[in-house]
Amino acid sequence: MAFLANGDLENELSKATVNLHSKFQIGTVDDRIFGGFLEHLGRHIYEGVFEPDHQLSDADGLRSDLREALDGLGVTIARYPGGNFASGYHWEHGVGDPDSRPTVRELAWQSTETNQFGTNEFVRLCRKLNWQPMLAVNLGTGSPEEARNWVEYCNLESGTYYADQRACNGDEEPFHVPVWCLGNEMDGPWQLGHVPVDEYCNRAQMAAKMMKNCDPNIELVACGSSAPRMPTFVAWDQHVMQRLGPNLADYISLHRYVGNDEGDSEDYLAIIKSVDQQIESIDAAARTVASRQTGGRRTYLCFDEWNVWYRARTSRDVDGAGKFAPPLLDETYNFEDALVVAMFLQSFIRHADVVKIANLAQLVNVIAPIKTHTDGVLKQSIYHAFRMISSRKGGQALHQATTCDSYKSKSHGEVPYLDSAAILDGDELKFFAVNRNLAEALELTIACADRPCNAFNDGELLSHSDLKAENTFESPDRVSATPLNDILLKDGRALIELPPHSFAALSLQLG
Ligand code: AHR
Repeated sequence: MAFLANGDLENELSKATVNLHSKFQIGTVDDRIFGGFLEHLGRHIYEGVFEPDHQLSDADGLRSDLREALDGLGVTIARYPGGNFASGYHWEHGVGDPDSRPTVRELAWQSTETNQFGTNEFVRLCRKLNWQPMLAVNLGTGSPEEARNWVEYCNLESGTYYADQRACNGDEEPFHVPVWCLGNEMDGPWQLGHVPVDEYCNRAQMAAKMMKNCDPNIELVACGSSAPRMPTFVAWDQHVMQRLGPNLADYISLHRYVGNDEGDSEDYLAIIKSVDQQIESIDAAARTVASRQTGGRRTYLCFDEWNVWYRARTSRDVDGAGKFAPPLLDETYNFEDALVVAMFLQSFIRHADVVKIANLAQLVNVIAPIKTHTDGVLKQSIYHAFRMISSRKGGQALHQATTCDSYKSKSHGEVPYLDSAAILDGDELKFFAVNRNLAEALELTIACADRPCNAFNDGELLSHSDLKAENTFESPDRVSATPLNDILLKDGRALIELPPHSFAALSLQLG
């Protein structure tokens, strides 16, 4: 970089200034926005997190190289067992003596499911990786009572039928699963057992009452509409929140998959504006419903599926053709996808007052930040974006008053070049910034009105000259973070030059 003696930058760049005040807080950034999602789909479980025959695997079937990669990602909570799979899954098939568990044809992804990995295996994996478990019950082909029985199996002290089965299966201590999803994408015609909204509410209400009666400490996530493009968007959500109320629906779910289908990177990088809008639309519905409730409680937002997914979507990518662990949804990510993943997380931080949980879909081999291969593990480009933010979690999200040059995107209107988020953690200011300008660097000034930036603690930069650069098993580090050094502190403000299309995560010491 080229700072002049007076602290100005040498070249004329596009500019952004972010003004903060330590008292202008949005809310606590919930650690659970750094969640992940595991589904019985493709090679996610088998040949993924459960590979008992691999030479690097421990007694629970987890490879040490995969464990190292998962540990580094910084996931806090993991949703399981689906996704679409959940709507045809009978949890009792996946517990007890592995030799007696049935092999079935599962219908969400047309694959063969051996049930060798089930509830106990999942919870042990969570404990090993320091993840909170989060389970999705089957409200497609399953019954509300089956859902309630699963809560008993997981969360009650032994002494009753299902809890005793858990103890018999080797886990005397209850699992205390804290968060449960009431089905998955039940507004979608592709979903097993898809129903109109009132029918979903009947099922969800019945299941929720029994589940909470069984364990009043659990929190429940009701199915929201499955994407903004759906005709159900907002209307379904509002109806569900109204029928269930905040006592049964602690959260409403949001899902979103995005992609650069048109090959227009400027437009693709602007897509996060529509994620902000998605959050704000569902939040508006939640507030509307809350205004009609007595007691002041409200339903919060659980963004329990989100990612880039647009390449591996053909019928070959989603149909297992009856095979066991077929390679499905095998998406290879590039550098521009990593920028989009960073912006998703920045959006969740900006909405910290309402988004309490979010789950990157998914974790291993299936639209995932990590791929496995018999001989190794690959960290895809999006891995680095996620890790750069999750490793700096904790604190209060701050409001930002930003002035910034902008551009006109094809689908999302006028968009500032800078997309950013700020977290205050005591004396530490964590800042995350994407420069969407494809041609020019961005001169970024960060100023906190009531507290000067006294020191630069550390920072990382994710930058690449080629938006389409990918990591591969042959070249695993093509896209990876480098230390961010070029920061200037002047008059209590921090000045950074962000290269064209780049992402920075940094920490400043405030006075
Ligand atoms: O994550 C892949 C699939 O996307 C999930 O199973 C489903 O919920 C969504 O449509």
